[in-house]
Amino acid sequence: MPYPIHRPRRLRRTESLRRLVRETRLAPSQLILPLFVCPGEGIRREISAMPGNSQLSIDQLVRECEEVQSLELGGVILFGLPESKDEEASGAYAEDGIVQRAVRALKENVPGLLVMTDVCNCEYTSHGHCGKIVDGDVDNDATLDWLAAAAVSHARAGADVVAPSDMMDGRVGRIRAALDAAGFAHVPVLSYAAKFASCFYGPFREAAESTPQFGDRRSYQMDPANAREAMREIALDLEEGADMIMVKPAMPYLDLIWQARQRWDVPIAAYQVSGEFSMIQAAARNGWIDGDRAMIESLTAIRRSGADCILTYFAKDAARLL
Ligand code: PBG
Repeated sequence: MPYPIHRPRRLRRTESLRRLVRETRLAPSQLILPLFVCPGEGIRREISAMPGNSQLSIDQLVRECEEVQSLELGGVILFGLPESKDEEASGAYAEDGIVQRAVRALKENVPGLLVMTDVCNCEYTSHGHCGKIVDGDVDNDATLDWLAAAAVSHARAGADVVAPSDMMDGRVGRIRAALDAAGFAHVPVLSYAAKFASCFYGPFREAAESTPQFGDRRSYQMDPANAREAMREIALDLEEGADMIMVKPAMPYLDLIWQARQRWDVPIAAYQVSGEFSMIQAAARNGWIDGDRAMIESLTAIRRSGADCILTYFAKDAARLL
């Protein structure tokens, strides 16, 4: 006979009570801002489907990161738009590639900021796929060499964390070995371990100019229907030496963040991807939902499901509200 003895509403009566018993905290240090860096100078090109986000030339990126630093965010993750694309994704692993130069500039001008790099080839290949094409499909093992070279070049530039997002089998082990051999045993790998072939990446592909020119990514990114396979992907990446793992997208996959949280004690990241961001922005702009509340509620839900940190295009706006 719990009622009327038990009344859960008692602890919800005032904000001071609600704050006292709040289980999940959101802090700027848990948020990582994705940024898109492009060639040129003085460039700040807004991405139409992602209001408030722009392609930035390195000088503008530095300015942006000074602001990120003052907001005390967890860090940034960089995506590059190369000068030109080719079949071999050579811009991905060039020592003077766009991301490599951007990392150097950030380490020089904003030294305290945590800089992660996305390790992938889709922004650098003329066909927009994440690896080397052999017989009409991405060849796994040939792609591993490119990924390892890219990760080492990012580390050499000063990246604090490298984050492979390509979904090739064996890439974490290969990247770990290459980093160690090149003297970067101290550089952690954040693996996009459970990354799904999701329609929610749509706006990002405009931002990164990385839409596949033929076919899609379903032969390497995961089927959205598969949860057990996601746990297997995570287990394999941890065996290969991943220091942190990621689930991506975030909101439609909270069950997987939760399952991973129960099974492993490593830090878990979640990526609130471009489509998740743009949906909230679009609805807010139409006056259909309260954008600030949707932002905080979505980020809180992702944290509640078990994520330690969140890659999100809301990072700056959320930090300002917290
Ligand atoms: C690169 C990559 C993608 C995203 C992050 N890294 C795009 C893709 O796989 O097509 C998506 C991020 C987002 O939508 O915000 N492989």
